[in-house]
Amino acid sequence: MPTVEYSKKTAIVYYSWSGTTGSFANKLAHDSDADLFRVKDRKRPDLFSALIKGCADARNRMPIETEGALPDLWSYEKIIFCCPVWAGYPAPAFNNMIAALPAGKAVELYFISASGSSSKSAEGTKALIAGKNCEIAAYQDIFSADVDVRYKLRKF
Ligand SMILES: Cc1cc2nc3c(=O)[nH]c(=O)nc-3n(C[C@H](O)[C@H](O)[C@H](O)COP(=O)(O)O)c2cc1C
Repeated sequence: MPTVEYSKKTAIVYYSWSGTTGSFANKLAHDSDADLFRVKDRKRPDLFSALIKGCADARNRMPIETEGALPDLWSYEKIIFCCPVWAGYPAPAFNNMIAALPAGKAVELYFISASGSSSKSAEGTKALIAGKNCEIAAYQDIFSADVDVRYKLRKF
């Protein structure tokens, strides 16, 4: 688990389908002064839909339909994205995060997965960040088994 010291000018943006990434992001926010934002499905997919449509959308780098608008990230110096890995790719909500990413930011990426690997998609993901003229300050894979679930948010 990373140790963090972030200023007020840090935003943590996360998506979580079953709570693990939520716990991870919540702990980061708890250990820092960063603002925490959740990207939420307008209608949360069931497991079948996540496995079939969600994984296809992840591979095709398609966004989700969200409940509410994403935060305006212009005022933040550093932006941290936390996202689960689906079918080896960032879950589709990551593409909403990319769409909301302003140019010129320092970006930290944390991918939470059962295998602890997003290597299949890492190069393409880094290219998306570079395409926004942002700098990747960190890229880290996290085993879901290593996430401290005491920080689990109540409802997902
Ligand atoms: C639809 C779906 C696809 C997944 N695909 C992968 C995968 O390709 N590789 C992997 O290591 N874990 C995969 N997982 C496991 C999740 O990445 C892991 O459980 C993660 O911690 C879930 O985060 P969450 O609880 O915040 O949703 C998948 C889970 C789901 C629901």
